[in-house]
Amino acid sequence: MRIGFFDSGIGGITVLHQALKLLPNEDYLFYADTQNVPYGEKTKDEVKQYIFQAVQFIADQQVKALVIACNTATSVAIEELRERYAFPILGIEPAVKPAVQKWEIDRKKVLVLATNLTLKEEKFNNLVKRLDHQDIVNCLALPGLVEFAERHQFNEEIVGSYLRQELSRFDLCQYGTVVLGCTHFPYFTGVLRDLFPEGTDLISGSLGTARNLKRILENNDLLESASGNIVFYQSGVRVEDAATLERYGQLLAMMDER
Ligand code: DGL
Repeated sequence: MRIGFFDSGIGGITVLHQALKLLPNEDYLFYADTQNVPYGEKTKDEVKQYIFQAVQFIADQQVKALVIACNTATSVAIEELRERYAFPILGIEPAVKPAVQKWEIDRKKVLVLATNLTLKEEKFNNLVKRLDHQDIVNCLALPGLVEFAERHQFNEEIVGSYLRQELSRFDLCQYGTVVLGCTHFPYFTGVLRDLFPEGTDLISGSLGTARNLKRILENNDLLESASGNIVFYQSGVRVEDAATLERYGQLLAMMDER
């Protein structure tokens, strides 16, 4: 059986990429809710509806586990999804814990970049409250990056100007770690790296999520020897045209270069 990956758009590919490295002998189903992206600018109720509909569709295709490869969807719906389905469901959260731990070493602050909805959610705010005893965590929503990613604008000058503008109110030298708390953001690692001082770490939860997936499959005796085949769906429609499939392939290859 396949492992399902779900995101509002192409962000989930950045997590799927890590899973393919750790678990190359599995087959995958990748579902992007392209009709409803971006989630981060919508209300919680609206986004929950989209998620429940998409996950039911994925469950109907028979998956053995599901990765919610979207920080926003995880923050609004993961508990309810786990109540609804019997297969293991994993989420992704902004990697605040390792970032805050690094403060012990470098005494530098943490900047969490995510969507507006993730930053508003109780789940994220509880996480920060639990971990940020030194008051070193600052947050910034970057909805523009989701739009750029969906338009496949990764390196254009317009991305740099957007980021310079959004980051202008922060003293970037104060930050030791930048948390990429949205799965669309790792595509912009290069641009972000150029804006922050040398030595600033950019981290995301995607590797941790892939490791969790491997552990859960092992523990549940669900590993198999398949071929790494991926089927893609966009809002309930199987992607079959060569151009779109090639674009997904290019995105995976792009992550290899990161
Ligand atoms: N990729 C998603 C995340 O990790 C959300 C992007 C969006 O749809 O706004 O948060």
